Amino acid sequence: MQTTLILNARVINEGQQQQCDLLLEQGKIARIGDDLQHCPADRVIDAEGLYLLPGMIDDQVHFREPGLTAKGDIATESAAAVAGGITSYMEMPNVSPPTLDLAALEAKYQRAEGRSLANYAFYLGASNSNIEQIRRVDPNSVCGVKVFMGASTGDLLVDDELALELIFRDSPVLIATHCEDSLRIADNLKRLRETHPGELNADMHPQIRDVEACYASSSKAVELAKRFGSNLHVLHLTTAKELALFQTGAIEGKRITAEACVHHLWFSDQDYAELGNRIKCNPAVKSADDRAALRSALLDGRLDIVATDHAPHLLAEKEQSYESAPAGLPLVEHALPLMLELAKQGVLSLEQVVEKVSHNPAIRYAIEGRGFIREGYAADLVLVDLDGETSVTDAAVRYKCRWSPFAGQRFRARICSTFVNGVELFDGEQVLCRPEAAQRLRFNRR
Ligand code: DOR
Repeated sequence: MQTTLILNARVINEGQQQQCDLLLEQGKIARIGDDLQHCPADRVIDAEGLYLLPGMIDDQVHFREPGLTAKGDIATESAAAVAGGITSYMEMPNVSPPTLDLAALEAKYQRAEGRSLANYAFYLGASNSNIEQIRRVDPNSVCGVKVFMGASTGDLLVDDELALELIFRDSPVLIATHCEDSLRIADNLKRLRETHPGELNADMHPQIRDVEACYASSSKAVELAKRFGSNLHVLHLTTAKELALFQTGAIEGKRITAEACVHHLWFSDQDYAELGNRIKCNPAVKSADDRAALRSALLDGRLDIVATDHAPHLLAEKEQSYESAPAGLPLVEHALPLMLELAKQGVLSLEQVVEKVSHNPAIRYAIEGRGFIREGYAADLVLVDLDGETSVTDAAVRYKCRWSPFAGQRFRARICSTFVNGVELFDGEQVLCRPEAAQRLRFNRR
């Protein structure tokens, strides 16, 4: 395996910035120092002027395999992820058929091996009746159990009270929840249909999937987790009101954590007029005040993690009427440039970006040997030019669905290089197809 020497990089890691050299050997960060230029290596990269970050770990993606591969697949979407500086991902069970038993889960791992470019993990889905499967999950080899406490894309939903209680009581592994109250949503929809006899529009999405629908469901998840002492991670929060449910401060030791996704940090309801169904997603993009509250909760720790909820759908599907268009946005290729743009705008610091996208997912999921720039850790790294630019067009994206909600946007950061286990898989221009580099994520939970 090739050894690589990265010289003079400005490393952002564990709350600090420091100019250093790194030697990558056998897929790992073998040495970190300030005078490694004489170490023998197969390849030397002079990273003067560039920033080096641990690769982003995205705990929420939909890569659509099996069954929905016209929208995306593990090979195409992981290539886009790597081009965006994401080196590990955790993938969701609302595929076809849904991932509801351990055999289907292992089959997904088999599909990823030799095809995924980034390191991978898969969630087991929860249903009203698969508690026996959930009880048998090995917490050291599976990232978590995904519970749709509100319906979204696909037909996964746990709406039976007893089933929910058993999951929160017995899951041996972290529970990740989608929180929106389906009954409240159905009521809102009915009311809007009555008051608007014509077609409903995308800008009504946040009135249908509204603040109260989110709060009713996420407060219930938090109540269940407190009652049963569960290990709960609430995915993609979108409202100021829900933030009061979560603790401020560092992630270490928390049993209940929360996250925001990049599109909810970027868009607000003002954007429906221009983007329509392109930003239709569940939970809905809400008000500018909600977005401001999410941004400030990143700073005080009520939001621990930033992820994507990458959810590709075909543009032809998105171009249908509001009610027919599926919810979800393709995001992995631009999530890190977007977060770096937010840092440039002063929303959070570069160190905080790295904490939310790399360190905290690694800590929360207890991922073995990743998420930090430390000797002995996997060489999952991203070189970034903060004087460069990422200009987004539909034509240039790598997603199978070939569009981006950010088309026309310029982010003031450019991903120059992505390494997965010491192998360069993106060189700033091309994704290099070396799927043998990626590994199944392992977890240190016992
Ligand atoms: O907008 C969304 N799309 N939210 C989800 O929870 C699911 C996702 C999808 O799979 O399309």
